Amino acid sequence: MSILVTGGAGYIGAHVVRLLLERGDEVIVVDDLSTGSAERVGDASLMQLDVAAADARDQLELVLRERGVTAVIHFAARKQVGESVEQPEWYYQQNVGGLANVLTAMRAADVRTMIFSSSAAVYGMPPDQVVTEDTVCRPINPYGQTKLVGEWLLSAAETAWGLNWAGLRYFNVAGAGRPELGDPAVLNLVPMVLDRLARGERPKIFGEDYPTPDGTCIRDYIHVLDLAHAHLAAMDHLTAEQAPIERIFNVGTGSGASVRQVIDAIGEVSGLDARAEVEERRPGDPPRLVADASRIGLVLGWQAQHGLQDIIASAWEAWQAGPRRIG
Ligand code: UFG
Repeated sequence: MSILVTGGAGYIGAHVVRLLLERGDEVIVVDDLSTGSAERVGDASLMQLDVAAADARDQLELVLRERGVTAVIHFAARKQVGESVEQPEWYYQQNVGGLANVLTAMRAADVRTMIFSSSAAVYGMPPDQVVTEDTVCRPINPYGQTKLVGEWLLSAAETAWGLNWAGLRYFNVAGAGRPELGDPAVLNLVPMVLDRLARGERPKIFGEDYPTPDGTCIRDYIHVLDLAHAHLAAMDHLTAEQAPIERIFNVGTGSGASVRQVIDAIGEVSGLDARAEVEERRPGDPPRLVADASRIGLVLGWQAQHGLQDIIASAWEAWQAGPRRIG
């Protein structure tokens, strides 16, 4: 297959690109390199382009036609919750506008298959202990809104012109699948803790008074390599002979870990003194966000192979190899 991967120079995208190349697909990466890095796309071809730019549609249509692309995996997006609260217009322009540009080009070039990076942020503050894909979606920040609107747009394109799509709702992605791809940017819990420890500082816990067993927030941590494999399973589902039976999938492990458990595990794996200091709650954090991952298991035959220990061991290994951070 010839697959166009937007955002393929980023943290998750680069892992997927490697797997696609290994299984013999032709891969064209489109990335604006604002947070990603060109050296991580390996033998894929790279086109530097912001998919949300005004003139991106024509360039995308041309590359889809010239390279005989049959499917698109769309990662390119902004992903910082706090930034999305400050700059909602820009987030909608980047995340929804970028998706609309890619779909316009796909429709014009008659490319009908897309996998979309969605997020557990679509659920907001869910009422349930574990969230299924049918749990009500009430995102609480513009980032989560843009991902939900993206899913709606894909569904509308399916109705309008037969788009064949899947949306993967990622839970808390962490770890390093390939040492050569480096670490993720210091935006999330695991890299933030490692970063503070490396500087001789204490890790921070944002709030210890949540209604959870140890008072800290619970999340479903998914290894980036497992997540990458989920994309291949979704692609196989979309391109199989039978019509896809589901479009939206939670990608998580089905079990949660608290902030304190994660920090303790980092201390054990690294041998560093990871005693944390407790700070105020960070606004907008749901106490608990854990996937019911049964649909992706039943329909795609995918399940996570790596638990929290593997995630932390791989992150620590990559960290020791020298921080090369990608967004
Ligand atoms: N946390 C700390 N200390 C830190 C960093 C984080 O206590 O130094 C806490 C947060 O308050 C939160 C938990 O660790 O309770 C996880 O925080 P992250 O920032 O790692 O991740 P979030 O759950 O806030 O969000 C992540 C992604 C989102 C995505 C969401 C889906 O950043 O883009 O997972 O579950 F939508």
